[in-house]
Amino acid sequence: MKGGTKMIFTLTMNPSLDRYLYVDKLIEDDTVRVEKYEDYAAGKGIDVSRVIKEIGGTSVAISPLGGENGEKISFMLDGEGVLYAAVRVKSETRMNVIVQTPKNQYRMSLPGQNLSSAEFSLIMDMINATIREGDTLVASGSLPTGFSPSLYAKIVKVAKSKGIKVYVDTDGENLKEAAKESPNGIKPNIYELSRLLGRELKTDEIPSAIREISRTYGIEDVLVTLGKSGAIVFSDGKMYKINPLDVKVASTVGAGDSFLAGFVYKREESLVEALKLAAACATATVMTPGTTLCLRKDVEELEDKVKIEEM
Ligand SMILES: Nc1ncnc2c1ncn2[C@@H]1O[C@H](COP(=O)(O)OP(=O)(O)OP(=O)(O)O)[C@@H](O)[C@H]1O
Ligand SMILES: [Mg+2]
Repeated sequence: MKGGTKMIFTLTMNPSLDRYLYVDKLIEDDTVRVEKYEDYAAGKGIDVSRVIKEIGGTSVAISPLGGENGEKISFMLDGEGVLYAAVRVKSETRMNVIVQTPKNQYRMSLPGQNLSSAEFSLIMDMINATIREGDTLVASGSLPTGFSPSLYAKIVKVAKSKGIKVYVDTDGENLKEAAKESPNGIKPNIYELSRLLGRELKTDEIPSAIREISRTYGIEDVLVTLGKSGAIVFSDGKMYKINPLDVKVASTVGAGDSFLAGFVYKREESLVEALKLAAACATATVMTPGTTLCLRKDVEELEDKVKIEEM
């Protein structure tokens, strides 16, 4: 699984420390005993970097980090051996608390990080200082609350002006604004694609919708993942259908991020190989429980099983 020599950077503007509390059940007016808790350094760009590392590549995760939660994220990434370039910021990195009972999950999102414009400039400086022409930048996830979606456009614009290949995986206005700057690729799921188009889509309308997006915004690679139905990808002017693999589903968390990681890792080398690796990484991630992403041995086993048809 050799990748190109170029480096892949990821950008996570809105990381969080996810704290999973495992409880038997939630009861009113009584103390709930937490049997165990686990923290996870969460971020969609960080996940892309994790997967690239797992499949044998090198990637650096750029992210603003602040306060004790930021410290904890650094510490955890050190432990995992994920390379990162942190821009230290004043405000606390957000925390999500996830209460997990045997039956249900309750997600609580604590107030988010605030970045000053000076701190945002530092992120841009980090991009300028570390990423070179021909490298790839994957910008994923939301922006901190209160941030204008135009900042996503700014990131794409600056990166493109330096000859960096930019892939964007975000939603809503952030995706719309980023798309206007013609990134090299985007990876919406079906819901994100509908929101970008501003209309609901039936399955048979997806290929024409993808062409429309590619043409309207001047985006070369449009990767649309369809959950258990696989993916449809437009790249190099051709439309491909990637059939899903039948595996036992443990948790789909991070499947889309894994897809994008596999794709960018091999994109320069061979498009068909990139699509196979993308689907193999995503499927292998689905096979692992909770937040655990793909395992290399599963990816290697699945890679040759992926079926791709040109449409
Ligand atoms: N239930 C499933 N069974 C088999 N494969 C799946 C399943 N769900 C996801 N996948 C695989 O993962 C890929 C990406 O999934 P999906 O479309 O759910 O991404 P996503 O919504 O962007 O996910 P996320 O942003 O949470 O990482 C799919 O193209 C498919 O290969
Ligand atoms: Mg996604």
